[in-house]
Amino acid sequence: MKLLIHDYTPEEFAPLAAQYDGWDIVSDDGTIRPCIGCFGCWIKTPGQCVIPDAYQTMARRIHAAEEVVVCTKWTYGGFSPFVKNVFDRSIGVVLPFFEIVDGEMHHQKRYPEVKPITVHFRGSGLDSEKQALSRRYVDAVCLNLQGMVKGVTFEELPAPARKQADDRPVSGTVLLSGSLRGKAANSRALLERLNRRLGAEIVDLVSCHGDYAALAARLRAAETIVLATPLYVDGLPSAVLRLLSALEQDPGGKKRVYAIGNLGFYESRQIQNLLAFVRSWCEQCGYVYGGGLAVGAGAMNAQLLKLPGAKNAVAGLERFASAILDGRSVNDHYEDSFLFPRAAYVLAANHSWIPKGKKNGLTKEELRWG
Ligand SMILES: Cc1cc2nc3c(=O)[nH]c(=O)nc-3n(C[C@H](O)[C@H](O)[C@H](O)COP(=O)(O)O)c2cc1C
Repeated sequence: MKLLIHDYTPEEFAPLAAQYDGWDIVSDDGTIRPCIGCFGCWIKTPGQCVIPDAYQTMARRIHAAEEVVVCTKWTYGGFSPFVKNVFDRSIGVVLPFFEIVDGEMHHQKRYPEVKPITVHFRGSGLDSEKQALSRRYVDAVCLNLQGMVKGVTFEELPAPARKQADDRPVSGTVLLSGSLRGKAANSRALLERLNRRLGAEIVDLVSCHGDYAALAARLRAAETIVLATPLYVDGLPSAVLRLLSALEQDPGGKKRVYAIGNLGFYESRQIQNLLAFVRSWCEQCGYVYGGGLAVGAGAMNAQLLKLPGAKNAVAGLERFASAILDGRSVNDHYEDSFLFPRAAYVLAANHSWIPKGKKNGLTKEELRWG
């Protein structure tokens, strides 16, 4: 059986339904919950998400499918919030353990096959630059989830009426942690270090309890936003996308937006698509993109900010703080680990999953079950 993941409304899908007869179909029933970054799909119920909703078994549905087709609204270069949500809830399709593929860190396979994946984007103004970003993103997603790009297409739609930032008054700086891990988040740790220089307000996305419109209203009034966020399946987490989409509906006053990305892998360059998505969102809203900071081995560096190993991340945050205080835009910066070799990071990370599984009564072998 083939698997279709789509974000069409029921009215949009009705005339297309016949061509997907007999497929396993994943559509937006309005109940999907965001991934909360707990890794339960790796260390509690291997291969299955712990959140009990209709999307809990996505990894197994992907595994069972002979191929996967994705139909998505083009959203800042990547998938729509719903489609991204489905992918964020699917990481159980790979193992927590790392390996090096073509000189880059990735996850080991849970299942033996390589899944053919086709992505159909639809949107407006999808010029060659935008298409190149989306192709690069699909390549990254497929490499990460042990898939194979079968095809990427673009359907041009009429341009919708769009609001842009206007002259409404703005003031102050909001530091926004886009992680749903709250106070434990690496994004939060990076913001706290940055905030030693800024003395601004830190807001956790998780504290809005899914009320993205309310949080968007708060951000609309800010003059400067610093978004710190984890990399999820090579892009922005779906909850961050939902918030950005809510702001895009009514961007409010002009502002400058900075982005800080962190990730589980070692190489900060894997964050480049995420930074491009934030830049693209800024363009769509009429905001100034202030620049990005990508912190490699973020899961380690963000927790070790007081130690010499995190020297590059700290230097990057210091430079970033100066730019924010001066109201300047800077080029994207990529900061990798200092004095901590990648091989040691792989060893330490791979070993760290075993006691976590053991706490849940799982052996190392059982973590590999599907
Ligand atoms: C659903 C999900 C997808 C992820 N995808 C990636 C990825 O594509 N690349 C990567 O290096 N790390 C990935 N990670 C790891 C996180 O980026 C990493 O754990 C990060 O440090 C979490 O930051 P936070 O504590 O601010 O939430 C993913 C984690 C989750 C939960």
